Amino acid sequence: MKMIKVDNYQQMSEKAAEYIIDRVTKVPGIKLGLATGGTPIGTYKHLIEDYQNNGTSYLNVTTFNLDEYIGLSGEDKNSYRYYMNDLFFNHIDINKEKTHVPQGDVGDMQTECLRYEELIAENGGIDLQILGIGSNGHIGFNEPGTSFQSKTHIVDLAPSTIEANARFFNQLEEVPTMAITMGISTIMKSKEILLLVSGESKKEALEKLMNGHVDEKFPASILKNHPHVTIIADKAAVAD
Ligand code: F6R
Repeated sequence: MKMIKVDNYQQMSEKAAEYIIDRVTKVPGIKLGLATGGTPIGTYKHLIEDYQNNGTSYLNVTTFNLDEYIGLSGEDKNSYRYYMNDLFFNHIDINKEKTHVPQGDVGDMQTECLRYEELIAENGGIDLQILGIGSNGHIGFNEPGTSFQSKTHIVDLAPSTIEANARFFNQLEEVPTMAITMGISTIMKSKEILLLVSGESKKEALEKLMNGHVDEKFPASILKNHPHVTIIADKAAVAD
C-alpha cells in the first residue's frame, strides 16, 4: 500500500480528484467504483470544477457505487442514489444510464444482490475503486466479521455506523438499519483502489490498517493483500 500524506481535507480532496482525472483521461471507458459519506464530497466538488474549467468528459465512464440503504428509494434525499446525482452526476456529462447504485427498495433484495454482482462482472470489473473507511474498519458497508469471500450482500449496520451516519438525517431513528453493499471479494477484484482518510476520528482505524494484521474483525485490513492500493490521508488522520 502506498501512502500519500497531505496537510488537510482540502488537499486530500484535490489530490484524489487529480488521481481520478488522470485515470479517466488515460483509460478509455473506465469503470469507476464510487463511495458516498462525508469523505469524498470535496473530491466530487473538485471533479465538477475540473469538468467546468477543463472539460474532462465522463461520457464514456461507467460507475458502480459501493452501497445503498435498504428501504430508501432513489428519490429519497438520504439515499445514496440521490447523493450521487446531487453531488456529482447532475453536474458532469455522464450518461446516467451508465451510473449504477444498488437498489435498496426492490421487493426481492437477494435477487438485487445477484443482479448487481453480475452487472459489475459483465462490465469487466472495476478499474479504480474509491473507498472511505469507517472508524471500525468497515469498507463499503462490510462491518467487522464480514467474510473476506463475501459478494454483494445485505447487512445489518453496526450501531457505531448508524450513529456516525445520523448526522445526515433529522434524527437517529430515521437512519436505516440495513443496507446492500458490494462484498469484500467484489471490492478486492478492483484493479486499483484509492482509499481516502481524513480527520482525527479515523486515526485509530488508519493506524490499525497500517500496523495491524489481516483479520476479518477489521475489514479494511484485507487491503494489505491487494497489489495496487493508494491511500491519501490528511495529517489529522495519521498517527504522529
Ligand atoms: C460509503 C461507504 C462507507 C464510508 C465510510 C466512511 O459509500 O461505503 O464505507 O466510506 O462509512 O464514511 P465517512 O466518509 O462519512 O466518514
